[in-house]
Amino acid sequence: MRDIQQITAEIFASMPSETRFSQTDAALIKQHKELLLGLEDDLTKGFYDTLYSHQQTLEILQQEDRSKRENVLRSWWQKTITSDFDDTYWEWQVFVGLVHIKQKVSNPMMISMWGWILTALRSLLKEHLNQPDLDTLMVAFERLAATIQALTAESFLSNYVQAIEQATGFNNKLIDRMVNLQIDGLIAKRA
Ligand code: HEM
Repeated sequence: MRDIQQITAEIFASMPSETRFSQTDAALIKQHKELLLGLEDDLTKGFYDTLYSHQQTLEILQQEDRSKRENVLRSWWQKTITSDFDDTYWEWQVFVGLVHIKQKVSNPMMISMWGWILTALRSLLKEHLNQPDLDTLMVAFERLAATIQALTAESFLSNYVQAIEQATGFNNKLIDRMVNLQIDGLIAKRA
């Protein structure tokens, strides 16, 4: 069974390096640390306003009170902006994928909220940065978004499949063959 470190290493290996968050991106975020930390209230409010006004995400969130939910994102934002972006940080993002499976948060829900974060960030930062600085910082966040989405989504899939393997006793090769047959069937139907 693959552990979180192996999953993280495999996902990084499959991403072309220029698409991945880099140490230059990390330095840029550090340079704008105070400004970015100051966006926490606006980002948190907008993020949960969006999730609480959509039926499917509301159903997931309503079991806890809103301020507790907000603290999850506040803490994630603070840890992200002050992060060294080392293995521990990336492995934590893989772990977030696990927590989301448990909470029934789907990848489309998570990916769409990443889209929301990037749009909100650009609009908030526009008030503080000139165009070239805004563009450079947003490219860093776009690479961060792609990297974390890859980690969280792949962690979700990989752990889901591992759970099926364990529950059914089927090994990975057998599941792969079954998936292939299923996909061949779907492709044949479209042809
Ligand atoms: C940009 C997208 C998202 C990010 C960065 C994010 C981040 C996180 C983090 C850091 C945690 C805590 C993991 C830990 O225990 O260490 C978490 C948990 C959770 N997330 Fe997300 N999340 C995202 C999207 C969503 C969406 C779309 C939902 C849908 C409702 C959601 C619902 C939850 C829930 C219910 C928990 C468990 C909270 C708890 O234990 O109190 N998340 N998320």
